[in-house]
Amino acid sequence: MPFIRESIITTLHDDGNAHIAPMGVHETERGLMLAPFKPSATLNNLMRDGTATINYPDDVRIFAGCLTGRRDWQTFPTDVIAGVRLHDCLAHTEIKVHTREDDELRPRFYCEVVHEQTHRPFHGYNRAQFAVIELAILVSRLNMLSADKIDSEIEYLRIGLDKTAGDRELEAWSWLMEKVTEFRNKQTETLQ
Ligand SMILES: Cc1cc2nc3c(=O)[nH]c(=O)nc-3n(C[C@H](O)[C@H](O)[C@H](O)COP(=O)(O)O)c2cc1C
Repeated sequence: MPFIRESIITTLHDDGNAHIAPMGVHETERGLMLAPFKPSATLNNLMRDGTATINYPDDVRIFAGCLTGRRDWQTFPTDVIAGVRLHDCLAHTEIKVHTREDDELRPRFYCEVVHEQTHRPFHGYNRAQFAVIELAILVSRLNMLSADKIDSEIEYLRIGLDKTAGDRELEAWSWLMEKVTEFRNKQTETLQ
């Protein structure tokens, strides 16, 4: 199994605007690998441009925000590639695609690192941050998972959240829970 870093990927649209999306970065023998599902803006931008930035933020609201319509996070120009990085990240890695493997569902982009920079120190792991990232993944798969599975995962994740969250984690959690409720209300409406 590859080691996967849950990160925020920034790419550029063809009009030069930034696109921000949470994505897993796989560490492989052929370099860092991104595997966006079709369809996706990140996929289109990688196909066209062949570059991206991997951002490592400790503010998990960025993960939750991207899945709940809050994508307006401040960016800065990158150092080597013609792209952007998040303003608020501990570190970032600029990458260039060297090999693309097409796939019906999930193409793979193998990348080389062209630049890497640290901006702030890492201050340790936090269970509430983990809980928010896990809930964000559940929210990105709401229509693939059963209601029971989602409820039991939320119940477990809430333990770490309740014990260790700060304001940012609680806010991120509330955005994601609103999305779960919204999804369920829509499901009930279509059944009526
Ligand atoms: C922690 C985390 C990891 C994710 N990893 C992936 C991934 O590896 N591939 C993918 O297609 N979507 C992934 N997602 C879901 C995408 O972020 C989401 O579907 C997003 O909207 C991608 O589409 P876009 O590029 O059009 O914005 C992940 C979501 C989270 C919260």
